[in-house]
Amino acid sequence: MNIIIVTGASSGMGRETARQLDRIYTDGIDEIWLIARRVERLEALSKELTHNCHILDLDLTKEASFEKIKLELELFKPNIKMLVNASGFGVSGNFADSDLEKQLDMIKLNCLALTHVTGLCLPYMPDNSRIIQFASSAAFTPQIGFGIYAATKAFVLSFSESLNAELKERNISVTSVCPGPVDTEFFDSFEEGKNSFEFKKYFMANEKDVVKEAIKDSYKRRPMSVYSLPMKAFKAVSDSVPNEVVLFAMDKLKKMENNDKINE
Ligand SMILES: NC(=O)c1ccc[n+]([C@@H]2O[C@H](COP(=O)([O-])OP(=O)(O)OC[C@H]3O[C@@H](n4cnc5c(N)ncnc54)[C@H](OP(=O)(O)O)[C@@H]3O)[C@@H](O)[C@H]2O)c1
Repeated sequence: MNIIIVTGASSGMGRETARQLDRIYTDGIDEIWLIARRVERLEALSKELTHNCHILDLDLTKEASFEKIKLELELFKPNIKMLVNASGFGVSGNFADSDLEKQLDMIKLNCLALTHVTGLCLPYMPDNSRIIQFASSAAFTPQIGFGIYAATKAFVLSFSESLNAELKERNISVTSVCPGPVDTEFFDSFEEGKNSFEFKKYFMANEKDVVKEAIKDSYKRRPMSVYSLPMKAFKAVSDSVPNEVVLFAMDKLKKMENNDKINE
């Protein structure tokens, strides 16, 4: 049985990836496995897709969820042709002022769960299969007021790049998706910690476009998918300018934004 697994399939870019892959794979895929906590969303998506779906309503910050995935894989012994790790969340706010549990949960979901799911799936991935990991442009440089999130995404990017190199012999490609702000439910929880950058809204991308480019880049077996010119420019700046200079500029921008708010 050939399958695709998508985590974070109940909304945003995970759901959109499931939709686009459903349309692309008219042949050769028997089932799409959908993972997230909101089961009613997964059921609605499964009705919409043309492929048969297997729903796993799991909280990926909980250890028992990985035991469940392991058991399902042992039971069905599928060929995982594609793994998409899209589950993740971000909360803004300076670390010292933030809810520590939330920051730790971010590490659990964005880093540990992604690593755990990838590790469990790899033995079932045949040669020539593909992995798409949702990182972020926040991975390119440390970020004031968004430090843990940026660090989790730097982890995803670094891990995925090395995994891509390690899996070359099996021709399994790993593509890290690194968009800037994308208009999804991500921003519903993002603002809880405040201290965000207002200018993010000027670079807001559409989830359909980001996912389309991510799938295209995965097909070309590119290690990274960076959507939009401004984010490509941000990557180039982050690569060439020392982190302390970028952090200095961010600090200045934030102070300017705060002054504008006070004067409003
Ligand atoms: N939107 C952006 O601006 C942006 C930019 C760059 C990168 N990203 C990254 O792209 C990925 C997709 O984000 P999105 O924008 O599509 O956000 P989203 O619409 O909020 O989707 C996040 C997904 O993660 C799932 N999830 C959250 N907590 C979970 C948990 N404890 N266990 C299992 N699943 C959980 C959610 O499902 P349930 O709530 O149903 O569990 C949902 O399906 C994330 O990794 C995010 O960090 C987003």
